[in-house]
Amino acid sequence: MTLGKEVGKDAGKDAGKDPGKDVGREVGRRRTFAIISHPDAGKTTLTEKLLLFAGAIHIAGSVKARKASRHATSDWMEIEKQRGISVASSVMQMEYGDCVINLLDTPGHQDFSEDTYRVLTAVDAALMVIDAANGVEAQTLRLLEVCRARNTPIITFVNKMDREVREPLDLIDEIERTLRMAVIPFTWPMGMGRGFRGVFDLRRDSMRVFRPGEDKLSDEDENIEGLDNPAISVRFPEIAAGARAEIELIRGASSEFDHAAFLAGLQTPVFFGSAINNFGVREVLDALVDLAPPPGSRRAFQRKVQPAEPGFSGVVFKIQANMNPAHRDRIAFVRVCSGRFERGMNLRIVRNGKDIRTNGVVSFLSQRRDLLDIAYPGDIIGIPNHGTLQLGDTLTEGERLQFTGLPFFAPEIFQTVEIGDPMRSKQLKLGLAQLGEEGAIQVFRPHSGGALLLGAIGTLQFEVVAHRLKHEYGVEARLVPAKYQLARWITSDNSRELKRFIDINAYRVAYDAVDAPTFLAAFGAELSVAEENWESIQFHKMREHAGLEFQTHLDA
Ligand code: G4P
Repeated sequence: MTLGKEVGKDAGKDAGKDPGKDVGREVGRRRTFAIISHPDAGKTTLTEKLLLFAGAIHIAGSVKARKASRHATSDWMEIEKQRGISVASSVMQMEYGDCVINLLDTPGHQDFSEDTYRVLTAVDAALMVIDAANGVEAQTLRLLEVCRARNTPIITFVNKMDREVREPLDLIDEIERTLRMAVIPFTWPMGMGRGFRGVFDLRRDSMRVFRPGEDKLSDEDENIEGLDNPAISVRFPEIAAGARAEIELIRGASSEFDHAAFLAGLQTPVFFGSAINNFGVREVLDALVDLAPPPGSRRAFQRKVQPAEPGFSGVVFKIQANMNPAHRDRIAFVRVCSGRFERGMNLRIVRNGKDIRTNGVVSFLSQRRDLLDIAYPGDIIGIPNHGTLQLGDTLTEGERLQFTGLPFFAPEIFQTVEIGDPMRSKQLKLGLAQLGEEGAIQVFRPHSGGALLLGAIGTLQFEVVAHRLKHEYGVEARLVPAKYQLARWITSDNSRELKRFIDINAYRVAYDAVDAPTFLAAFGAELSVAEENWESIQFHKMREHAGLEFQTHLDA
């Protein structure tokens, strides 16, 4: 198997000779993607199998172990307590063919989490897993909206063809309608459930015969060349005629695959298979390598940053409490955006001009916390810190750059925090500040004083916060539903108008973790009225880290 460390080391050997060229070559072979799906569609199973096919066999077991008891909230919390595992398996690196593949896990809870959105900002492509029995489900749709907003290319895997599922034609029709994307089947199933006989590769004009079992890799697969091959009718008389007719139909009806349209998120190649049976998995890996894009340029406020630039830059897209609560250390997940990272180098946090050393940087390969030596654009590095790094921070070798695009979403559910023991209020404040910085929850300080308000998009976020306050900060907090239902960040070109708005609406304004003023409303109508009456104020549903305020600070 290939360790990320070794990949990095090999790449590093030549680096001294011609660093610029080396970065370009390494960028070209990086593929960084996330798997998205509705819970139970088979994300964990497919992740395991991708790792298996890429040769990273021992990781596969740990993915499964992690998933083992994740079905209910309480189980999730138990497993989440073992943060080490969860940190380590949230990014996996493997080598397949000539490529280095970085696979980012998206949280698999039923409930929506902002964290997932932010993880999607760090990838160049997404792999969507659909349960063939259920079609496109709510969570998938939400995640897809994020991908669409960012034009992230999507490869689709329709899983569980070994079960009695929905008609494939219905499924692709649904994908096209709900996701508003042209579906281009690369393979087509022949039969399903107990009658599942394989998939037909529309490009190679070849049938791959299905054989159930977890113990095989697809090198052992049997192929029958040609749709007209009599062997298909002889071997599989029960499905041959029907499958042929359907494949002819699909061939006639589906558009040509257009790589540019795929890269723009307008077309999605679709593969059918059964992850649990290791079937159809290799095609997906091949598609990732062949079709998914290498890291591209990224927008910063100041300029566009090209990945092959020699200077290092990276952005913090996720912060997670580490396995050792006693030390309160956290890991900042940094996506390398340009240049070459070498362990030990000094990096500047552009927000405040502070430098950090990176001796203790970790890679995320499985449960191993190998020290990472070298990383290139598309790779993810983990920097342990005690709160120095914040979500959205840009790290460089000194250049004043601030990447854009890390979203914070307006919360939809609000609760106030009360504590039984006033002696613990300092711990509560500390806990909430840290959890707020991690992005686990949004914390608002009302303009007119009073109890802190917590805002989230899914209710699970509140449970997690209460649990963590208790176990990590020793605070028994009571979370009580608040009257608010929506929030909008407010800005204005006219600072006097903004101040006037805040004064007049004092009881409905609060400040978030970076002191951005926010308008709170109990009903949608309140917001509409405010928007009508205050043309000089802009109401935002989404905020980017250190947006305009930062720009001002930087220009000052
Ligand atoms: P998730 O991460 O998306 O939540 O899904 P996961 O991989 O855990 O899969 C959900 C369930 O679907 C699991 O069953 C898994 O075994 C099953 N599954 C995954 N791929 C396939 C497939 O290709 N065919 C069939 N028939 N089933 C599949 P479980 O009973 O919930 O868990 P387990 O006891 O099997 O681990």
